[in-house]
Amino acid sequence: MGMVSQRFAPFGTTVFAEMTALANAHGAVNLSQGFPDFDGPEFAKRAVERAMAEGRNQYGRMQGLPELNRALVGWWKRATGMEVDGETQVTVTAGCTEALAATFLGLINPGDEVILFEPYYDCYRAGVAMAGGVARTVRLRPPGAGEGADGIVRGAFEFDAEELKRAFTGRTRAIVVNTPNNPTGKVFTRAELGLIAELCVGHGVVAITDEVYERLTFNEDRPHVRLATLPGMSERTITLSSLGKTYSLTGWKTGWAIASRELSAAVRSAHQFLTFCSAIPMQMGAAEAIERGEEYVEGLRKQLGEARDYLAGVLARVGFRVFMPEGTYFIMVDHTPVSGGRSDVEFCRWLTTEVGVAAIPPSVFYDDAEGGRRLARFAFCKRMETLRAAAERLERLRK
Ligand SMILES: Cc1ncc(COP(=O)(O)O)c(C=O)c1O
Repeated sequence: MGMVSQRFAPFGTTVFAEMTALANAHGAVNLSQGFPDFDGPEFAKRAVERAMAEGRNQYGRMQGLPELNRALVGWWKRATGMEVDGETQVTVTAGCTEALAATFLGLINPGDEVILFEPYYDCYRAGVAMAGGVARTVRLRPPGAGEGADGIVRGAFEFDAEELKRAFTGRTRAIVVNTPNNPTGKVFTRAELGLIAELCVGHGVVAITDEVYERLTFNEDRPHVRLATLPGMSERTITLSSLGKTYSLTGWKTGWAIASRELSAAVRSAHQFLTFCSAIPMQMGAAEAIERGEEYVEGLRKQLGEARDYLAGVLARVGFRVFMPEGTYFIMVDHTPVSGGRSDVEFCRWLTTEVGVAAIPPSVFYDDAEGGRRLARFAFCKRMETLRAAAERLERLRK
């Protein structure tokens, strides 16, 4: 670690790399990192092959290929009813990860405050630090009650409105809103987003939304709401998303940022020096997936809904307190009924090496590790046979 800059030294190695390596070393069923063990649509893969064969193998435009920018304009119109200009308001990036980095670097000045809901996807903390910003956190708390006879808690993680209001100060530049939310599985309600919008407008704050799980929602009464569509927000929201989760193509690392001209200029100011453009054949495949992928997405949503119900049932039966997710492909549990006094990190390492199932210890998503000590996160974006293999092993935990 001696050579690592002061900026990154506090973050160590990301927990996803660590848990996947541990899972591989011990032959564990990997329910830690959020990638599917099945493939995306064939027609999108064929489009990438065609693009390569046709010689689309050199650098492309900084803002994204015209084919993909156009596809995203159409998709945005279908999703929101709003018009954007593909040339100036849509920026294609190397996954949502680069879109996040470009947004933080392009928007945040040293000392600016950025509000994060905690637990947060770990990129945000590092991204704010990269830009020299100061993160302020607002806690999402697990529901205290609502446990059914099956041991599953139905009810979302919630924040305290007063705590959120207090987090806005004269130095606040931006707030990051990840809905559907990793790792909690929460889908922010229209009322919650309404309060966030009101505070952003009142304080002149920019909203950065991470919507990579936008299509993966499971409860009809909790649809995904886009913050950019709320009054006063289209001009002050940078909507980030990517192909990976919606089309099971996480390795393609194709993402985008949609925002006003001014905010897009901020994102592009950094994007041009980070990657300039993301892989061109993948952009052609992404355009195809977005234009022809609706049937695939609906099928995936149904498949993941069944996987969610199955894994939640398994986890509850072996004794965990299960928080049923409304979206994403993760389930959070309180592991303490099963683990006794172990911390989440100890428990997840033990579960991987001794039981043969890998999960993520959520304390890495908190400023104060204590916040995640009782929790563990399991991914269910896996084939049923993988989930059944995990279930067989987890049965050993049953008292
Ligand atoms: C909330 C969230 N944002 C962003 C990403 C990364 O997206 P991408 O693979 O498109 O960079 C992930 C991946 O797990 C995620 O969970």
